Amino acid sequence: MRKLCLLSILTAALAPACGGGASGPPPETDDDFPLPLASGLAPTPPMGWNSWNKFGCNINASFVMGIAQAMHDSGMQDAGYRYVNIDDCWSLAARATDGSLQHDPARFPQGIKPVAEFVHGLGLKLGIYGDRGIETCGHRAGSEDHEVQDATTLASWEVDYLKYDNCPDPGPNPGPIIQPRFEAMRAALDAAGQASGRPIVFSVCAWSFYEWATRAGHLQRTTTDIKNFWTADPNSTDRGAIITSLKTNAPLAAYGGPNQWNDPDMLEVGNSDDGAGNVTDVEYQSHFSLWAISAAPLIAGNDLRNMSETTKAILTNREIIAINQDALGLQGALMKTMGEQSIWAKPLNENGARAVVLLNEGAATANITVRFDEIGLAGGSAKVRDLQAQADKGTFKDSFAVDVPSHGTATLKIVGAEPPRPKGTAFVSDLTPIYAANALGPVERDLANGSTDAADGAPIKIRGTTYTKGLGMSAPSAVIYRLGGKCSTFSAQVGVDDSSTAGMGTVRFKVIADGETLFDSQNVNGTAPAMAVNVTLTGKRRLKLLVTNADDGSSLDRASWGDAKVECEP
Ligand code: GLA
Repeated sequence: MRKLCLLSILTAALAPACGGGASGPPPETDDDFPLPLASGLAPTPPMGWNSWNKFGCNINASFVMGIAQAMHDSGMQDAGYRYVNIDDCWSLAARATDGSLQHDPARFPQGIKPVAEFVHGLGLKLGIYGDRGIETCGHRAGSEDHEVQDATTLASWEVDYLKYDNCPDPGPNPGPIIQPRFEAMRAALDAAGQASGRPIVFSVCAWSFYEWATRAGHLQRTTTDIKNFWTADPNSTDRGAIITSLKTNAPLAAYGGPNQWNDPDMLEVGNSDDGAGNVTDVEYQSHFSLWAISAAPLIAGNDLRNMSETTKAILTNREIIAINQDALGLQGALMKTMGEQSIWAKPLNENGARAVVLLNEGAATANITVRFDEIGLAGGSAKVRDLQAQADKGTFKDSFAVDVPSHGTATLKIVGAEPPRPKGTAFVSDLTPIYAANALGPVERDLANGSTDAADGAPIKIRGTTYTKGLGMSAPSAVIYRLGGKCSTFSAQVGVDDSSTAGMGTVRFKVIADGETLFDSQNVNGTAPAMAVNVTLTGKRRLKLLVTNADDGSSLDRASWGDAKVECEP
């Protein structure tokens, strides 16, 4: 109640509701925020540092301890960074006579355990690198067929985090080959961590997204290796770059969440500080803001012992880190693209609060407008804070506009009114979702999903039956609606849309309310008849409609929710 009254000072429309004191019925905009943190080893995206991006194989024990000390001394630890992660090249190609992994004595003369103890002494955690195949990408011993032994070894060294790589190159259609290897290591780590009392975070690095990796890992790489470029060099076969990783990761937003974070790879922020690259500070700020709103792991990849003041300020901006670490755990979604400008948003764990990044990929400064009803808020007044400058911009009506430099971002927190709860019989396509993520363009209202533009799909049609109302999605996709605890049922007819290529496509529909799965279609393919959904929502506050790819590797599955509606109090 008190929170709402504070909010209503900002929102003229709600102001009269404040006068009544604390008695009266609970206000309809109260969604019981803040919600509690998820359980598990990675309830928010892991934060730390990794040696690979800047140093490659140039690593040894004193260097790693120096980085840990710098994380401790520089303000990085205070800002939330925890994991000091050693990447490839710490070990030998050969195993010991008992079959165990061996540290490289030239680099880590006393082994890994004393490094872990030093790192732990600073209040930090130690991460290490391994590989699901017979050898790592740097030709050190891989863990294939040694998963249990290696997990036990790592646990005995007090390792807290394992990044698990994908060499040797598994070739085309690698999913079925590599999946059991990653799963074997997850099981081995869980067992070893339980036995030692020191659980181990598992970072799946399979260079591409796989649905099974959301279960195998606490985070899963969705991209090939990032490189210290803003966009990919068109003359190079190496396509890694900041914007490339961002855009490969973005369509997967519906999968991101606690203990299954989408990982667009480690940060490059600061890696041009020494003149070794051509990424500007403006671009690094954008890189950081976009990783933050994408709920990406924030794993710095620069020299923490030697940071420019600007690099340090970017990496330790607590208000931007807070949107990354927000307990709702949603991956910010691309809400709208206007040529070279785009709007990214996600709800935060606070009534009416949204994190917003306005990105300008153009060559000149652009004025970008964000309408509050485009980021899952009701229209009307909202308070805007600039998180890069950590300064309030004021209260604005319906929209906010700002000049954004070339390759720059505006990173904002916007606090306004939640959209009104549904009343009576309401088609969900007539409601404003507080969150909407879709693999291909926007979630469509009353149409099937088409391509990247809004309203570019065919009418919703499942096995020949047309639905004039409903939602059109391309898996993976998720929408979330407020219910205000006042709705009784959700119903729909769901299936792969007839506009999916020649009856192809397999998806899985789920209806989730306040974290509880109320409906699960299991896998449905393009020839399955429409499936009726009918679930009870009594008392529920948030309704999530989720469509996943059903592990079939296809990312262009059109999934339709015909006649999707809620029954609510008037
Ligand atoms: C792969 C990974 C990188 C890094 C190197 C190390 O390329 O994707 O992140 O770990 O291996 O060899």
